[in-house]
Amino acid sequence: MRRFVILAHKAAISPEFNLSDLPGGAGRLDVLCRAIGASFFLSHDLRRDVEVTLLLQNQVQIRLVGEQLRHLNPDERSTAALLKHALEKLGEEEARSTPGIFISQTSLPSILDRLWQLQAHPVILHKQGIPIDSFSIPSNPAFILSDHLDFSADDEKALGALPRISLGSQWLHTSQCITIVHYLLDRRQQDESEDLVLCHKVWAEAQAKLIQGLLEDFRIPSNLVTQVPPSVLPMAINGLAEVQIKVRLRDLARAKEIIADYFQEEPISGSMRE
Ligand SMILES: C[S@@+](CC[C@H](N)C(=O)[O-])C[C@H]1O[C@@H](n2cnc3c(N)ncnc32)[C@H](O)[C@@H]1O
Repeated sequence: MRRFVILAHKAAISPEFNLSDLPGGAGRLDVLCRAIGASFFLSHDLRRDVEVTLLLQNQVQIRLVGEQLRHLNPDERSTAALLKHALEKLGEEEARSTPGIFISQTSLPSILDRLWQLQAHPVILHKQGIPIDSFSIPSNPAFILSDHLDFSADDEKALGALPRISLGSQWLHTSQCITIVHYLLDRRQQDESEDLVLCHKVWAEAQAKLIQGLLEDFRIPSNLVTQVPPSVLPMAINGLAEVQIKVRLRDLARAKEIIADYFQEEPISGSMRE
């Protein structure tokens, strides 16, 4: 499950706003609608393993649950209409306004408590954080973002020492950050589900390790697989055995280029997937 918690500082907490004035009278509800779109929409499909929590003025939460969502369309106005309808249902208890949309009164500390109870791992997205490349995104992550404004002093107090992750040195839109996070997590999932592919063969482990180190310098992980066929004709003669260097499919072309440049020889052709 991927979770996004968006702290909205000015967004309307009552339904008396005009759907034609989302950036103004509705307190930048347009930012939240775009963030909802980025969280859920694929081309002609919805991501079901996503939950979005909007915290409005640290008082009201609207929770959108991907696996139950209905009536969500890509345009901001109809998304805002769903949020407006949710605000009409705000009461003492949590209410379901439409399938997959729940509204209740809450605050940031309670949202964080719920995340811990669900064994989610909250991380803050912030320009001044640890670069995402040096951070291993935990399983069951919950990304906390602000809206068009920075986190408030109260937010900062509640968020305390949670890890802060940066997506680069530019301030991005909330929705852009969500798209980047999905991209990174999709890529990770793909890497985990795909077999490594053969990139190069050598006949000495020392040389294979040299190439592995070289690829590491370019941040390309690889595996070394020694092939000693169980035949009567051993391939490991005088300590020599075929060592295959395997990489992720998405690194294959670059890895071959690096090896070819370094050794000034042609790497083997074709991906030869196993
Ligand atoms: C539009 S930015 C906030 C605006 C900015 N603080 C300002 O006042 O100019 C919206 C949110 O997206 C996230 N964000 C934006 N740029 C980011 C970056 N480079 N790295 C990580 N998160 C970022 C943060 O959660 C941020 O609060």
